[in-house]
Amino acid sequence: MKKLTDEVTFRHGATISTRTAQSPMLTNSGLDEKVTQDTIDYYNVRSQSAGMVIVEYTSVSKNGGPSRSWAPNREQLAIYNDDFIPGLKKIADGLKKDGNKAILQLVHSGREAQYRITLGGRAEVPSKIDFPWIDYPLHELTEDEVWDIVKDFGAATKRAIASGFDGIEIHGANHYLHQEFFSAFSNIRTDFWGGSLEKRMNFAIEVAREVFKVVKENAPKDFIVGYRISPEEIHGDNVGYTWHESQQLVKKLTELFAFDYVHLSTNDYTATPADSDKNYAELLGESVQKPTLLMIAGGIHTVEKMEDALKYVDIVSLGRPTLIDPQIAYKLKTGQADKILLEFNEESVKGSHLTPGLIELLSNTDYFAMPGIEYLKTLTDIKLDDVVTHDGTK
Ligand SMILES: Cc1cc2nc3c(=O)[nH]c(=O)nc-3n(C[C@H](O)[C@H](O)[C@H](O)COP(=O)(O)O)c2cc1C
Repeated sequence: MKKLTDEVTFRHGATISTRTAQSPMLTNSGLDEKVTQDTIDYYNVRSQSAGMVIVEYTSVSKNGGPSRSWAPNREQLAIYNDDFIPGLKKIADGLKKDGNKAILQLVHSGREAQYRITLGGRAEVPSKIDFPWIDYPLHELTEDEVWDIVKDFGAATKRAIASGFDGIEIHGANHYLHQEFFSAFSNIRTDFWGGSLEKRMNFAIEVAREVFKVVKENAPKDFIVGYRISPEEIHGDNVGYTWHESQQLVKKLTELFAFDYVHLSTNDYTATPADSDKNYAELLGESVQKPTLLMIAGGIHTVEKMEDALKYVDIVSLGRPTLIDPQIAYKLKTGQADKILLEFNEESVKGSHLTPGLIELLSNTDYFAMPGIEYLKTLTDIKLDDVVTHDGTK
C-alpha cells in the first residue's frame, strides 16, 4: 500500500522524499517579469513543503504573458531570455537546500496574455474567435509563429536547466495556449495545428518533442519532465474537449515521450465526469503509459485526503495547503502530521512568507476560499511589512 512518506523514484532516476508535490501557484511578486526578493523569500521557506515544489508558471515567449490580473510590480515571471536566469537560479537554490526537488512550470498564456498588450505586445491565439468575454484584440498565430513558440519552449527548458532546476513542467492546463490548441472550442484551424483531434494534439506533441530534445542534449540524466492537463473543458454548451479526448492525449504523449509524470489540474480530486462513475484520476490513469507517474491537485487539504488520494495517484499535489504550512513534507517525514497547520491564523501567516501580491489576491476573491481566510483579510490594510519581510526573520 502506498504511504505518503514513501520515497518515489521517477523513470529517469530522480528520487523525491515523499509522495507530495507543491502545485504551481502564482505569487504575483515579479517586477518587470523578474524574480524579486519577495519571490525569493516565499520559495526559500518552501524547501520542505513537498518532495518537489513546482514553481509558478513562467512565460517562455515575450508574448506568452503576463496575464491580465497583474499590476506592474506584482507580475507573472518569465524566462524568454538569459537575463531571467540569475533570479530564477535563486529560487532553485533556495528550494533545493534541504534535498527536495525544484521544478519550473513553463507556459505560453495564449489569449490570457492581456497585460502584454498594455506593454506593447499582443495576445496570441490558435484561432481568432469572437470570445464573448474578451474585449481586447487577439492575434491569430501563423503556422510559422507556432513553430517559433515550440522553439521557445525548448530555449526556456535550456534556461531552466542553466538556472539549476531539477525539472520542468509543461503547462497544458487551465485555458492557456496548450489547452487552447487542444480545445475544439478555441482551435478551429485547418492547417497542421488543427482540424481534427489528431491535429489539435500536434502543438502538445511538438512542444514535447522539442523539450525532450533539449533535455537530452543539455540536462543531467535524472532531469524530470512533467505535463499538466485539465481533464475536461466543458462550459455549458461549449465543449472544448471531454475526458475521452484527454485520455487519447495523455496516451499519445506518454507513448511518444518519456514523461516522468502527468499532473491533473482539478478543483476536487474526487470529481467525476457526467458520463462515468470513475473519477478523473482513475480515468486518465488508465491511459497514462507506465512508468510515467500520475499526480492530481484539487482540494487535497487534510492528511486524510492526502492518504485517500493515494488510492488513485502516485503523488498528491498540494496547492493552498502549502500556502498555509510550508513544512508539510518535513512534518510528514518526521512523524508530525498532526502538527500540520490547516488554516490561516497569526501563527501560520508569520511562517508562511506569503508575498504581498498573494495576500492581496487571496483576500480579495472568494474563488480561493481557504480556512482562516478572514484572518488574511485583516492583513490587507496592511501590516504587510510585519508579515512578509525581506530578511527572513519574521
Ligand atoms: C494563488 C494560486 C495561484 C495559482 N497559479 C497556478 C499556476 O501558476 N499554474 C497552475 O498550473 N496552476 C495554478 N494554480 C492552481 C493550483 O496549482 C492548484 O491546481 C489548485 O489550487 C487546486 O489545488 P488546491 O486545492 O490544493 O489548492 C493556482 C492556484 C492558486 C490558489
